[in-house]
Amino acid sequence: MVAIVRAPGSNFSLGETSGLYGQPNYQIALQQHERYCQALEYCGLTLTRLPPDMAHPDSTFVEDTAIITPRCAIMSRPGAASRLGEIEDMRKVLRGFYSQLHEIQPPGTLDGGDICEAGEHFFIGISDRTNQAGAQQLANVLSDYGYTHDFVDIRGLAGLLHLKSGIAYLGENRLMLVDALIDHPAFQGYEVIRVDPQENYAANCVRVNDHVLIASAYPHLSARLEQLGYRLIELDMSEFRKMDGGLSCLSLRIPG
Ligand code: GLY
Repeated sequence: MVAIVRAPGSNFSLGETSGLYGQPNYQIALQQHERYCQALEYCGLTLTRLPPDMAHPDSTFVEDTAIITPRCAIMSRPGAASRLGEIEDMRKVLRGFYSQLHEIQPPGTLDGGDICEAGEHFFIGISDRTNQAGAQQLANVLSDYGYTHDFVDIRGLAGLLHLKSGIAYLGENRLMLVDALIDHPAFQGYEVIRVDPQENYAANCVRVNDHVLIASAYPHLSARLEQLGYRLIELDMSEFRKMDGGLSCLSLRIPG
């Protein structure tokens, strides 16, 4: 398995942000990013490390630029105007991995952070970044490859920039969900781990082989996952949180 990562540039703090958590410290962000990379390598992934992209301050959040599946990849079309150009470089990188590379087309917009893969099924968030046209285009491509999907409209749900701000699929039919999503019909039939509201940020975790990478300092959720038998790697995400970024956003993970 390969993961594509991109270190933040020194203008990282100029990216999109609600500003709720203060100004990020660039040097600390670099250190946190490096620890994240080391954790992926520890879990057995081979990294493709891209250089900082100073034209796009949010470009460290590579997950938003594409949707990766075992059968195809789809270039996104980010919903924030400042991020649209991020896909140009990533398209070239992904051509090295995929012969089947699709594209979300205007007027569709779609951020990878709105897409949660759960095996053969995909949850497609409709948000302030991903519009209905983009969501439908993605659904059509996924259907062509035999995948199923549900749409999940998160517009108006406080605290959820992206669908994956509030959900993670851990494998074996198990979902981690924040309260705002817990009653959505798309998630019925799954075993659900409920996230305490004060720990919502940690819902955006990533299962990588035998480990779960999770934001540090969320003790209730960590304890619950350990009770369930998961091996955790806790990572300080403070500087990325200040830019409204989650843990999954920092990599594009390519199966195989
Ligand atoms: N800063 C991450 C985003 O807003 O897309």
